[in-house]
Amino acid sequence: MSILVTGGTGYIGSHTVVELLNAGKDIVIIDNFSNSKREVLDQIKQITKKDFKFYEINYLDREDLKNVFEENKIEAVLNFAGYKAVGESVEKPIEYYMNNVSGALVLLDVMREYKVKKFIFSSSATVYGDPQTIPITEECTIGGTTNPYGTSKLYIEQILQDLYKSDNSWDIAILRYFNPVGAHESGLIGEEPNGIPNNLMPYISQVAEGRLKELSVFGNDYSTPDGTGVRDYIHVVDLAKGHIKALEKLDKESKGIYTYNLGTGKGYSVLDMVKTFERVTNKKVPYKIMPRRAGDIATSYADPQKAKQELNWQTEKGIEEMCEDTWKFIVKNKDNKKHPNN
Ligand code: UFG
Repeated sequence: MSILVTGGTGYIGSHTVVELLNAGKDIVIIDNFSNSKREVLDQIKQITKKDFKFYEINYLDREDLKNVFEENKIEAVLNFAGYKAVGESVEKPIEYYMNNVSGALVLLDVMREYKVKKFIFSSSATVYGDPQTIPITEECTIGGTTNPYGTSKLYIEQILQDLYKSDNSWDIAILRYFNPVGAHESGLIGEEPNGIPNNLMPYISQVAEGRLKELSVFGNDYSTPDGTGVRDYIHVVDLAKGHIKALEKLDKESKGIYTYNLGTGKGYSVLDMVKTFERVTNKKVPYKIMPRRAGDIATSYADPQKAKQELNWQTEKGIEEMCEDTWKFIVKNKDNKKHPNN
């Protein structure tokens, strides 16, 4: 029996594949490299010394997807095949809803046809909108998303709730990620955004590299300790491990639909991240204070107790490691580009 991973060469998908392979699972990856590179397949093999099946397909293509279910005995599906750029989603709502929502629907429909009903969904803390309370628990009201990306996550969560209500032989975990950063400690896989990054950590690292001149800090007048936005940054390897624990939970528990926050429970400001990055990498990160960014909230961090109690999962890596590993990936990636045969 195999686990199907959609979007398995992307940032979070690839790190989760590594953890699944390390846990001895058989894996089938599908990806169309819309926001990732083919080389990631080899990097995963290099890290894990393990092999897996791969199909270059778009998960919206029902016939191609069915073929994967025909050719493999799939027991569970982890869905990472989503577009994720907040700003781009405002420009391209149809593309975002098509890929994220329609893609999930095609996938769930094909799963139903093949009687595969174990599903782990990558959701986001963005579904909480401007959160009612901090730290954010899973009981906080969801809604009030401010962009199609966030709304697509909200819609899919609702679809999953409706699906489970209609047929309680499904077994579903909804994982709400806080702010994933960092890279695998090998420096072989990490985050490679296309174009100018939107997110803080990739922006900081490109400034440190000298590719971008300075960081714009979006607002220093929030009601936070230093006035800049506070977020719950989580190391991507900790996040990946959360998926293994969620899968174990679905394997042993009676069927259900479970929702978990995956975060550290700690909030750090933009300036905390800049200072820590400078300290651990010994690089300068010049910045200037700019007006607030539309749609941003002051503070977001998780209450991760539910995941701790029910999944026996908690994060292990702090912000120093997040910064160190981000930088390791940048340096290694640059070397690989200079010496592609290394
Ligand atoms: N920030 C800057 N300058 C930048 C980029 C970001 O000051 O160039 C600040 C933001 O204002 C915010 C913090 O850094 O205070 C984090 O911003 P990110 O863009 O890295 O992350 P967000 O919290 O805005 O959004 C992230 C993901 C979304 C996800 C959301 C969940 O990008 O996919 O977390 O809350 F939905």
